[in-house]
Amino acid sequence: MQGEKITVEILGREGLARIGRFRTAHGVINTPNIMPVINPNINTMSIDAMKRAGMTCLITNSYIIRRSPALREKALRDGLHSLIGFDGPIMTDSGTFQSYVYGDVEFQNRDTVEFQLNIGSDISTILDIFSTPDDTWNKAEDAVKMTAERFAEVDDLAETHDISGPIQGSIYPDLRKISASLMSSGKASYLPIGGVVPLLEQYRYAELVDIIINSKLNSDFSKPIHLFGGGHPMFMGMAVLLGVDMFDSASYVKYAKDDRMLYPEGTRDLKDIMELPYWSPLRGRYTAEELRKEPADSRKSLIAVHNLAAIYMELSEIRERIHEQTLWQYVEARSRSHPALFEAFKRILLYSGKIEKYVELYRKPPFMAFDDLSMMSPYASRVRNIKGSGEYVDATAYYSYGMGLSEKFIKEIYEKTQDKYSIMWGDIEIPVELEESYPVQQSIFAKNMLNSPKKYLNRGESTLRNYNLEKIRFLADYQFGAGSGKNLFPDSCQIMVSRSTGRIRTIEDAGKILATMRVHDGYLALTMEGGERIMKNSPGMKNRVMVMDESATFNAQGKSVFFNFILDCDMDIIPYNEVLVVDPSDNLVAVGKALTSGIEMKQYRKGVAVIINHHRK
Ligand code: GUN
Repeated sequence: MQGEKITVEILGREGLARIGRFRTAHGVINTPNIMPVINPNINTMSIDAMKRAGMTCLITNSYIIRRSPALREKALRDGLHSLIGFDGPIMTDSGTFQSYVYGDVEFQNRDTVEFQLNIGSDISTILDIFSTPDDTWNKAEDAVKMTAERFAEVDDLAETHDISGPIQGSIYPDLRKISASLMSSGKASYLPIGGVVPLLEQYRYAELVDIIINSKLNSDFSKPIHLFGGGHPMFMGMAVLLGVDMFDSASYVKYAKDDRMLYPEGTRDLKDIMELPYWSPLRGRYTAEELRKEPADSRKSLIAVHNLAAIYMELSEIRERIHEQTLWQYVEARSRSHPALFEAFKRILLYSGKIEKYVELYRKPPFMAFDDLSMMSPYASRVRNIKGSGEYVDATAYYSYGMGLSEKFIKEIYEKTQDKYSIMWGDIEIPVELEESYPVQQSIFAKNMLNSPKKYLNRGESTLRNYNLEKIRFLADYQFGAGSGKNLFPDSCQIMVSRSTGRIRTIEDAGKILATMRVHDGYLALTMEGGERIMKNSPGMKNRVMVMDESATFNAQGKSVFFNFILDCDMDIIPYNEVLVVDPSDNLVAVGKALTSGIEMKQYRKGVAVIINHHRK
């Protein structure tokens, strides 16, 4: 019935957050996005009004449709899209949530899914077992197992249809991991995180952080992650930062019923409002006072319009933030709007070491440090771990932010000794060789924690080493693994510096350019010659992306590497680092920039994985 199954194409990223898209039988869904919940019995807002508010896809409940003879007949006869009056992507839920709220439902799992397929749902849902936050570990484990068994009952249907496999596991991170692995490795093409509505309602955001991260990191990245019931704009940015692509929510109506109005940072009661915000679609048509005087039914519909606008406005801001790679900062700042969010933000920082694997070598905007918590973000934690053991001499006194290390220090101290030197960047001690690279130079601090040059020690001995050579070797070791620096840049190499700034530009050896130093992030970009040298020093898959022969031919001409042509790759690849593109016989065909981590490269099936910078002639 359908063509290819759902698979995420990644179009933009910042760590685990992504801008993406996937295809359904009724059109493409751009992510992050929300499916507003439509109750087929209640028409709070017309479909047209919802489309005007920004709706491009929706979710409805197959259980409600099936229970009502009139709706069931119409849905079976004319199809779900005709019943709802919407020709875009429609997901259906199963009745799991109703069984959680009202007790057992009268239908079985397989016939529930068959019904959804029969009425033409784009994404169907099994009758998963809802675990509550109060369930014991044992009870939650049973629910995880039974949910997986229920998916297995529809494995044959999932061959040709998009069926969602909810990740359960209550508040237990280990169970969320197991559930995510079970659902990811099976035939489900869409992964909602379930059982979280009570946590969302009780502002238990820190526990949600545990749940989302453990689910996401154990899921297949080619499958969309959906947060069931997560539709309050207040938590959406944080959820997206942790890898959530999709939301659904009835909050726009539920809150409207109680005269509650959504805002990006919280909720306000209509009775307390002095004026409608500038962005509200109601502004200009009603004053707050006039809105309060509307009859209950009309007031509910009007507030729903406002609430939906708040949700779509926030989603648009979130997408923009990922595009400019400032979502982390946005969430960091916004977490101050509620203590529960702030607690959750601090919980995220405990995962920095894990998130680091998915974090880019550099981001377009500078790193911004507001306080000590900023220095715990994965962008900072990565450089925190660079300095290994061994004695370092503090050279902070010879470093000034903006000017870098003083010339005098380099010539009269650094180059006349073999000592290791470090500078303080915020509270992090980093090797001086990293002074120009992201995020050290590309950073803005709330206060100047860096000292300016003070005293000089003239060693007077003859020159023992060259700072620029040490620096590029250090960067090569950092980017390509220990020992790469010496192999890539032998003593005979020549370092070309800019006449105006003194900064390193290109590095040559025997008349061939090996690498250039990128202006925007202070890291190395390889040429083919440089790539060959790195390869000799990289055993196995190290630094490599191995592609099929038919791709290698194109990559050798400078065309990008697509995910579906990748045979194998180094799992330690960092997004935006340089990689070696090799054919199945391990011949270097090109060098370029990885767009995802190595872990992700093995999972995505659609889109560009590596942009080629240099290729075989
Ligand atoms: N809606 C809200 N939570 C859930 C859940 O855990 N499972 C399903 N199927 N629907 C939901």
